[in-house]
Amino acid sequence: MIPIARPQMGEEEKERVWEAMASGSLAQGPRVRELEEQFAAFVGAGHAVATSSGTTALHLALLGYDIGPGDEVITVPFTFIASANSILYTGARPVFVDIGERDFNIDPSLIEAAITERTKAILPVSLYGQPADMEAVTEIAERRGLAVVEDAAQAHGAAIGERKSGTWGAGTFSFYPTKNMTTGEGGMITTDDGELAERVRLLREHGMKVRYHHDVVGYNFRMTDISAAIGLAQLPKLPAFNERRRAIAARYDEELRGVLTPSVRAGVTHAYHQYTLRVNERDAFAEALKVRGVGSAIYYPIPVHRQKPFLAIGYGHEALPVTDRLTAEVLSIPVHPSLSDDEVSAVIDAVNATAVELGPIEAAAAR
Ligand SMILES: Cc1ncc(COP(=O)(O)O)c(C=O)c1O
Repeated sequence: MIPIARPQMGEEEKERVWEAMASGSLAQGPRVRELEEQFAAFVGAGHAVATSSGTTALHLALLGYDIGPGDEVITVPFTFIASANSILYTGARPVFVDIGERDFNIDPSLIEAAITERTKAILPVSLYGQPADMEAVTEIAERRGLAVVEDAAQAHGAAIGERKSGTWGAGTFSFYPTKNMTTGEGGMITTDDGELAERVRLLREHGMKVRYHHDVVGYNFRMTDISAAIGLAQLPKLPAFNERRRAIAARYDEELRGVLTPSVRAGVTHAYHQYTLRVNERDAFAEALKVRGVGSAIYYPIPVHRQKPFLAIGYGHEALPVTDRLTAEVLSIPVHPSLSDDEVSAVIDAVNATAVELGPIEAAAAR
């Protein structure tokens, strides 16, 4: 079976981790600091603050913007639940708007209508590794006095023109094992806003600048030096990982038939965290791929506003037709950098044979 993800661990990771363990610096220490500096430089942001996960990065970024009870944050339901849960953690309410049919990301033309006097921030998600339309989102946010938190958990190295994901307002990343680079568990906040960086650093460590002197109620959202050691070995490999992902995606774009392949907005560098098709008879399609030895996954089978905890607090009645349609059609196929050329060919053969078997998706709806 060709798996949907395959984390790549080499000698460099082993050496770095062993070095961290032997040093005795196991919790947050010099390696976390070094990873922050290197990641900030990679993204092109003034500051980077490492966290224990992508979820805690989101939570902290929102707290850093002073978002809390009574506030609303505009986001999308077509995402991993952490994007919206992080808003709930602060006591604020997520307000869901629909996504664009072509890029699977927030539809900026729907944002203004969702803004109320309670709105404090917009939280677009750069899903599957394609940056949301951050220019349009930022233009609205600046005009309406709102903060911007880009959930870039899937978008390491993605860019609009020369500008990378993570450089608008605050960006948050995840280093979960299936991501384009990993630290085991881990996350990062990037920003050019020095005050925001200072606030999230404080909140990350129990509100403590001077040991055992606490200024505010904070959290333990720290990354460990062992995780950072993995990250320091992974980060230099990230550009080559992403290049390989893009080369595989280019073959899929070229050779797949009977399915809708991802459309990339002009001027965008896609990081291809996922290569997500729209297919006919999606569940049967996934089964047929499995029979042909190809793993696939549905990101995500239920949109956030229809998940149980959200139904329990009154969500689920929103009219979000594009989200609903795409939820029924999307299927991600392997695009990770460790795929061999033969494996890529096998994926292509399996997808094309399945599309013949189940019939092509009605392309007219999307193009
Ligand atoms: C879009 C999105 N947001 C947030 C997260 C949360 O990251 P983590 O799993 O590191 O907490 C993830 C990762 O799973 C994600 O894909």
